[in-house]
Amino acid sequence: MNSMNNLQLGLSYDDVLLVPQYSDIKSRSEICIGANLGNCLELTLPIFSSPMDTVSEAEMCIAMDSIGGSGIVHRYNSIEQQAAIVKESMRKLSNNIGVAVGVSGDYLERASEALQQGATFICVDVAHGHHISMKKALRRLRIMLGDDFHIMAGNVATLDGINDLADWGADSIRCNIGGGSICSTRIQTGHGMPGLQTIFECAQTDRDVSIIADGGIRNSGDIVKAIAAGADAVMCGSLLAGTLESPGETFKDKDGFSWKTYRGMASKEAQIDWKGKYSSFEGVSSRVPCRGSVKDILFDLQKGIRSGLSYTGARNIKEFHSKAKFMKQTNAGNIESNTHITNRAW
Ligand code: IMP
Repeated sequence: MNSMNNLQLGLSYDDVLLVPQYSDIKSRSEICIGANLGNCLELTLPIFSSPMDTVSEAEMCIAMDSIGGSGIVHRYNSIEQQAAIVKESMRKLSNNIGVAVGVSGDYLERASEALQQGATFICVDVAHGHHISMKKALRRLRIMLGDDFHIMAGNVATLDGINDLADWGADSIRCNIGGGSICSTRIQTGHGMPGLQTIFECAQTDRDVSIIADGGIRNSGDIVKAIAAGADAVMCGSLLAGTLESPGETFKDKDGFSWKTYRGMASKEAQIDWKGKYSSFEGVSSRVPCRGSVKDILFDLQKGIRSGLSYTGARNIKEFHSKAKFMKQTNAGNIESNTHITNRAW
């Protein structure tokens, strides 16, 4: 039973900073931010686009791949529609494209179709991945896909969760429950863990598995903190939404500003579009400003991540994992950490 005296404190991105350290790196170009996620999945930019219907279809997957990351085609469509998105991407891809499947219904057929179309990995995509349905699905997918095909799975929040999914057959695991920008899981259910704390905890795994920090990533500083805490790569939704490559129509508000819809896959709106009705909902539908090409955003993130490693004096992600030092900061520290010129009383 829990006692008030031993409740764990959970830290999130704004609660910490990385301590700058001696560096002999003369140029950011000396730094490699590539990630080997195991079982035939390697990225030169450690970023995945979220399998969401306002983020990842063909254009996003092609753009992500062209910069060294990877897109993951969402599963809120028919098998035929999903296969068509993969097919449309395959002409134009150099490396990776993932395909999301669930843990029930048509997930085996989806995985089989994705494999035939040339997908390079599967993402078993459910809100609460530490679950018996995930266990059954991973075991069946592993038998169907063989040992040499990369399976990503999630989401989990704990060390027990990441260890179990690794033992059930996952190669990389999406970590974080309830931290996404459009997520209301913690409000609806009271469950979750602050995003960075999840990474600290999951990074203690002794299994041969890669960690994807998923949700709540707002800028390159958050990516750098997630990797320093033990993540091998990150997954982003809101950071990539509202771009030319994200699915959906552009609309203007009364002041003439252009926007695109960005919505949680468990929002009422997404469920109604997908299933014609909604059950419990754990996400919201929102809008994000149109921000041009995702490639420009990815180039800026890439520069920020390289600079981040250079402040610790690390030439690659493995070195960064061993050298990075965190410090907790107070709310005053967090205010100072953000640009604060506009708040000043002159
Ligand atoms: P963001 O990058 O902070 O916008 O978060 C994106 C992440 O939120 C996704 O990769 C999913 O893990 C998660 N997510 C997507 N849809 C929902 C939802 O409806 N409820 C809760 N989490 C969601």
